[in-house]
Amino acid sequence: MVEATRYDKNLLFSERAIKQRPSFVRQMLALLQEHPEIISFAGGLPDPETMPTEEMFKCQQLPIDLVSPEGKAIAEKHLKQLGLKRFAGDLKRELNYCATTGRGHFKGEMVKLLKELTGVEYGKDEILVCNAGQQGISLMARAFLNPHDVVYTYGNTYVGAIPAFELVGAVKRGIPVDKRGIVIDKLVEDLERTVPNPDLSHKVRVPGQLSIKELEEIIEREKSIVDKDRRGKMVYINAFYDNPNQTVLPRERAEKLVKLAYKYNLVIFEDEPYGEVGFLDGEFKHDGLPYLNKIGKDMQKGLGESSNPVLFLFTISKIIFPGSRLAVLAGDAEFIDKIQVIEQADSLCPSTKAQAEVATYLMNYDIAEHIDILRRGYKAKGDLFESELQKTKHLWPLIEGYNRGPLFFFITFKPGVAVSEMFTEENILKYGVMAVPGKFCGDETDLTVRSNQGFASPDQIKEGLKRWDRLAEDLYPSKR
Ligand SMILES: Cc1ncc(COP(=O)(O)O)c(C=O)c1O
Repeated sequence: MVEATRYDKNLLFSERAIKQRPSFVRQMLALLQEHPEIISFAGGLPDPETMPTEEMFKCQQLPIDLVSPEGKAIAEKHLKQLGLKRFAGDLKRELNYCATTGRGHFKGEMVKLLKELTGVEYGKDEILVCNAGQQGISLMARAFLNPHDVVYTYGNTYVGAIPAFELVGAVKRGIPVDKRGIVIDKLVEDLERTVPNPDLSHKVRVPGQLSIKELEEIIEREKSIVDKDRRGKMVYINAFYDNPNQTVLPRERAEKLVKLAYKYNLVIFEDEPYGEVGFLDGEFKHDGLPYLNKIGKDMQKGLGESSNPVLFLFTISKIIFPGSRLAVLAGDAEFIDKIQVIEQADSLCPSTKAQAEVATYLMNYDIAEHIDILRRGYKAKGDLFESELQKTKHLWPLIEGYNRGPLFFFITFKPGVAVSEMFTEENILKYGVMAVPGKFCGDETDLTVRSNQGFASPDQIKEGLKRWDRLAEDLYPSKR
């Protein structure tokens, strides 16, 4: 006979699962699914109107076989009917697993694209395909950060990056940000104040020299340093229209940052979903953004160093579509090789079929033309949001200032406003509008909000701001 015991699920979960907090944005998205009447400025969703739906409809009709003469003949006819030039692959291959680092055709297309956008030509062993940016962040966290290791971020940082760092037990240390991104002097202050990471240069220069036992000893020794005095190992950064602050890092600061990475032995994790859909100073410019990975590559040559300290994460979510769940991590081949070992355990490989479809899209369509459409669309929506916001009678007087990016506004309210009180579940349901309080991005003032105007239609932008205005009127009647 089985003895009756109390079945306690809490004793089954891992310590990590118990500690991990649910994501506010994901919860809000769930609320939105239940209440589609709510106008959401909350998610990071791109504009559904500018997604290449018709093009993808064609690119998803991959042929069955591109190898046998009969298969090829059918595929040729099929191509003509669809008005395409090439297919990246066929279903006989694309329905199967692929290498962890990704399919050659997709990687090839991404190498070309990164060369065009960033000016760096990555070799095939310097690039790894992952399940979009979120997995890229998670892989980076696991490949580089031990429990208690410090990762420098912007004071307020991407809501999705925080749990990925927390999941490995790393400690996020926010560095102050002004209108032009990270304040480098503040980072230097922290690097100088803190206890250096152990000097393993004599070991790591000879691959395989560091044994697991030695590593464990180092980690033990490291644990004796309190977290606040520990020097960071990684800098996580979005240089262009960072999420959520919407700042753009000037080249001069970017160069200083890369120099610091060499001086203090840091890895710079550059995650750039927004640069290409952004516009600088209200102008459309397509003459290449000063990506940190390019600066790192140039500096590496100049200094005669053996590696580029910048690892570059480039998701296609905001320039093509997020449903593909595809991104690439690009950088030093030894870094990439280590990260792919982590990916093997995580997902085996990225979606083979999605890679073939998106590679077909990139082979057949002009991505620069598409990006230009996105830029113009986002600029128009930003202009509309800005003018409607300034017209609000009750909301606008509460606002101190804002930074504007292609998908988001990052708004700072005047003292006395508590943003998290504005967007309680009760208020969201009552007024039918929502945005993300900066608190969830690390802001301790509770005076900021990240608001996405990229997803909403023009009518929703107008109506959403009217609703937000009513909420402001009811919550802060004395501030009029
Ligand atoms: C800064 C940043 N990084 C990464 C991501 C993750 O995007 P995805 O997983 O769709 O590539 C986002 C999404 O909004 C983001 O804003």
